[in-house]
Amino acid sequence: MVETFLSHRGHRYQQAFEFAQRQVAATIERTPDYFPIYTVEGRWQHAGELWTDWTGGFFAGLMWHFFRLTRDPAWRQRAEHYSRLLEHRQFDRDVHDLGFIFLNTYRPWFEETGDERLLAVLIQAGRTLAMRFMPRGEYLRSFVAGESLFIDIMMNVPLIFFAANQAGDAELERIALAHCRTTRNRLVRPDGSTAHEGIFDATSGEFLREETHQGWRPDSAWARGLAWSLYGYSQVYALTGRQEFLDVSERNAAFWLANLPPDGVPYWDFRADLTQPLPWGPQKDSSAAAIAACGLWDLAAQTESLERAERYRAAALAMLDRLVEPEYLAIDTPGWQGVLKHGVYHTRKNLGVDESVMWGDFFLVEALAKVLANPRSA
Ligand code: GLY
Repeated sequence: MVETFLSHRGHRYQQAFEFAQRQVAATIERTPDYFPIYTVEGRWQHAGELWTDWTGGFFAGLMWHFFRLTRDPAWRQRAEHYSRLLEHRQFDRDVHDLGFIFLNTYRPWFEETGDERLLAVLIQAGRTLAMRFMPRGEYLRSFVAGESLFIDIMMNVPLIFFAANQAGDAELERIALAHCRTTRNRLVRPDGSTAHEGIFDATSGEFLREETHQGWRPDSAWARGLAWSLYGYSQVYALTGRQEFLDVSERNAAFWLANLPPDGVPYWDFRADLTQPLPWGPQKDSSAAAIAACGLWDLAAQTESLERAERYRAAALAMLDRLVEPEYLAIDTPGWQGVLKHGVYHTRKNLGVDESVMWGDFFLVEALAKVLANPRSA
């Protein structure tokens, strides 16, 4: 680990980070070259539906996080191998998830090496993602239809900014900026909550209504969608330096902090009816907490307000403190193959409800890595 002195909190985070390495190593050993998405009763490999193939970058990305913090060459070798298995996805026009796939794999690999060939893959993936742009409504369409805009895309659009910056491509930047503004204007509400989906008239580009796939209702606040927005706009601010996007992320953070249950882990939808039986009622989504912890940690360094910085940092740490307890971390759950329990993939389809989900494991490790890389700040 990077520092010899760690606080009590730091030790618990390091323990969780080491547990995550053991779980991922065991999954590689058990099912080589397999990219898990969500568990069924704690087990990764099953015949359950995928809905869409979007999570490979998280599994390989875990290996990059492990390498970057430990410098263990075995993790580097695995990270490169699993990243290479995803390279063909740079041309994939069927999903809006190329940011998830490439920013967590080829970007750390490129940052380690400066290899132009890796950069070319990233730029191509950014260009492919930009092909989803709908000029009439000015958004990148989701994988479900031309008239559909998802909040999730806010975590993918940083790939287009990255490609635009690296290639000096003004058209790519224009597309990415337009997407961020349309998403802000149509999916982010004045109180900072977010709709999951916006439906447009694909011919005229007119905005028609809010919708949802994974949330409680069209007008509710699906917790993971809000986390994607919070962390996504923070990343876009980091890539563009444009205050307008920092403002959106801080608006999301205000809603998050005002509505979080006392234990720091949100229910799957902030407006779910908690009197309903599970999975509709009081089902937690630990993956949303892990994503938001990453975003709040970064926002603390980005905001101009010292007072808000302190609130964001404290909230991120409180959420992480909870996630590394055995209630959430699978460290005391024999036979459980994931890292983080009590995540949710898709409630309506009953996929991965109250299970480990690959992005929950990834963003927990990403958040731990952020703190462990600066242990004195914890
Ligand atoms: N497809 C992104 C999500 O499930 O959050």
